[in-house]
Amino acid sequence: MKRTLLFAMAVIMMSTLSGGEQMNDTMKTIFSRKSVRNYKESVIPKETLELLVKAGMAAPSAMDKRPWEFIIIDDKDVLKKLSDVLPYAKMAVPAGHGIIVAGDMEKQNGGYDSVYWIMDCSAAVQNILLAAESMGLGAVWTAVYPNKDRFEPVAKVLGLPKNIVPLAFIPVGTPSGKDKPKDKYNKSQIHWNKW
Ligand SMILES: Cc1cc2nc3c(=O)[nH]c(=O)nc-3n(C[C@H](O)[C@H](O)[C@H](O)COP(=O)(O)O)c2cc1C
Repeated sequence: MKRTLLFAMAVIMMSTLSGGEQMNDTMKTIFSRKSVRNYKESVIPKETLELLVKAGMAAPSAMDKRPWEFIIIDDKDVLKKLSDVLPYAKMAVPAGHGIIVAGDMEKQNGGYDSVYWIMDCSAAVQNILLAAESMGLGAVWTAVYPNKDRFEPVAKVLGLPKNIVPLAFIPVGTPSGKDKPKDKYNKSQIHWNKW
């Protein structure tokens, strides 16, 4: 309750400092996004899940290679199998839905041994998280890559081809309301013109 009040005060202060009108809907979504790990039971329509992925595909990517692939999961058995191999993604089952964001090693800028896919897919993940927040849905980035003991079993569960490496698993559902955004603003981490 105290943290919620502090966050509300920070948002009000920021809107005052920035002249108010700069705190537009996009900025509000950015500041209200949070990792949602507590869900109410719900069924999210397939079109809504596809819209989240469409938001992911709007992300920037190195040389515009778009080396991403998305696996949408709304099958409880598959969610259970994924949560069995991902130690910090147990919330996927109550969430009821999830999206795997994976990179295509053959498509990425620089070819098979490059690392651009990590940045490209991370941008797509963040777009999905923000899109979910803006639509009143809850989502959380759970780590798959670079842990070999996670990305190999995930690839096996989903039957991914060799060139497709899963980066993140995003459980998606209807938030219970328990999870709250944090105020992470830290002025000491801003540097102007030099360190
Ligand atoms: C690369 C990455 C990996 C993460 N892995 C997990 C995870 O496996 N499980 C989880 O519950 N949260 C995971 N998170 C979410 C972070 O714990 C969360 O973003 C952080 O605590 C800040 O909270 P917030 O997202 O609510 O602002 C991950 C986030 C990132 C960026």
